[in-house]
Amino acid sequence: MRKQSEAIFQRALKVIPGGVNSPARSFKGLGMTPMIAQSGFGAVIRDVDGNEYIDYCQAWGSLILGHAHPDIVRATCAQISQGSSFGIATQVEEEMASTIVRLVPSVEKIRFVSSGTEATMTALRLARGFTERPKIIKFTGHYHGHSDSLLVRAGSAVAAMNSIATSKGVSAATIADTLCIPFNDPDAFLQVIKEHKETLAAVILEPITANMGVVLPKPSFLKLLREETQKIGALLIFDEVVTGFRVGLTGAQGLYDVDPDITCFGKIIGGGFPAAALGGKAKILDCLAPLGQVYQAGTLSGNPVAMRAGFETLKHLQRPGFYEELAKKTDRLVSRLEEPVRRAGSMFSLPMDEPRFAEFFRYLFERGIYIPPSCQEAWFVSAAHTEEQLDYTANCVLEFCGNCTNAQTLQLS
Ligand SMILES: Cc1ncc(COP(=O)(O)O)c(C=O)c1O
Repeated sequence: MRKQSEAIFQRALKVIPGGVNSPARSFKGLGMTPMIAQSGFGAVIRDVDGNEYIDYCQAWGSLILGHAHPDIVRATCAQISQGSSFGIATQVEEEMASTIVRLVPSVEKIRFVSSGTEATMTALRLARGFTERPKIIKFTGHYHGHSDSLLVRAGSAVAAMNSIATSKGVSAATIADTLCIPFNDPDAFLQVIKEHKETLAAVILEPITANMGVVLPKPSFLKLLREETQKIGALLIFDEVVTGFRVGLTGAQGLYDVDPDITCFGKIIGGGFPAAALGGKAKILDCLAPLGQVYQAGTLSGNPVAMRAGFETLKHLQRPGFYEELAKKTDRLVSRLEEPVRRAGSMFSLPMDEPRFAEFFRYLFERGIYIPPSCQEAWFVSAAHTEEQLDYTANCVLEFCGNCTNAQTLQLS
């Protein structure tokens, strides 16, 4: 029964485009009314009709501790009761900055913003300001938020590398400096570097992708990006909005031992509140205003409630064994799936085609399991998931496979 959800969605459609404030939550292509959430505790979300779902979206990877973790609730409520926003520097911003600088070796200084989109957009402006060059390289299928110059997909071959905007409303001039090439393809990369070495400001990537399913980088490819950018004086920007503090305390850069110039964070560092950041080498970060001439600002940047939530979250992540425990939970689910799941720590994806995915999504939804409503997105296991929930989920996935007319129809690749 989803009567309330349907009624609310119908009313929302009249006043909000598509009834939602971000397209990924619209259930487009799934042929169903989107979820209207009421509350969340631990790994479970309850909708406005009182239906409960084990949640593997966890606010798109933001909630590594699960919903409404008591420590986050306590810390944020305490902050709210003392003022929720000042537009003035606060102590917790310094505490958060010092913590991230201590934990992530490549980060010497950090600036907080409110969304991953702002972090990557500012990182590009900073790279262009620092290098005084215009062009950037991004990779096909990598998502860096919705700022104009990053809403670009590639032509299918390097030779046909005319950048094409993924969205209407992005002018050709805006994306003229965005070069888009395939991921994990050293030849394509070397060719572009050769052509644009004088004008290239930066290479930006999701070091482990979350937005085209989980795709792991070839370690040698990341090393190549580092070496070649260094050689030509361009910056390497790791977009760790998803992987930062998800795959470990030092992110994907720690796993692959790469030292980027700038790292973008988001999601987990806000503990479920709007916070994101760009951090990196001091000589680069110091080009930001007020020290430097690259402008960046935000009324709610470094908001103390979001900083408190992030700071409390990071305290949990630093406890000995946190990531090992999370990996064990993920193993419990993933090892049962029998198929080659693409995985990095507690994030993973089950590649499949869209019509099959719609069926799969509905099958799980009807059984009280909520997964990210797109076949391109990663699932996230939180510290709050219980063994029972993970076992039940594995049973349901296997049941779905068993019920397929052809047992291979999950089409995992
Ligand atoms: C890798 C990556 N970068 C940037 C963003 C944009 O972050 P936000 O949605 O907070 O603007 C996202 C969002 O999912 C992301 O996955």
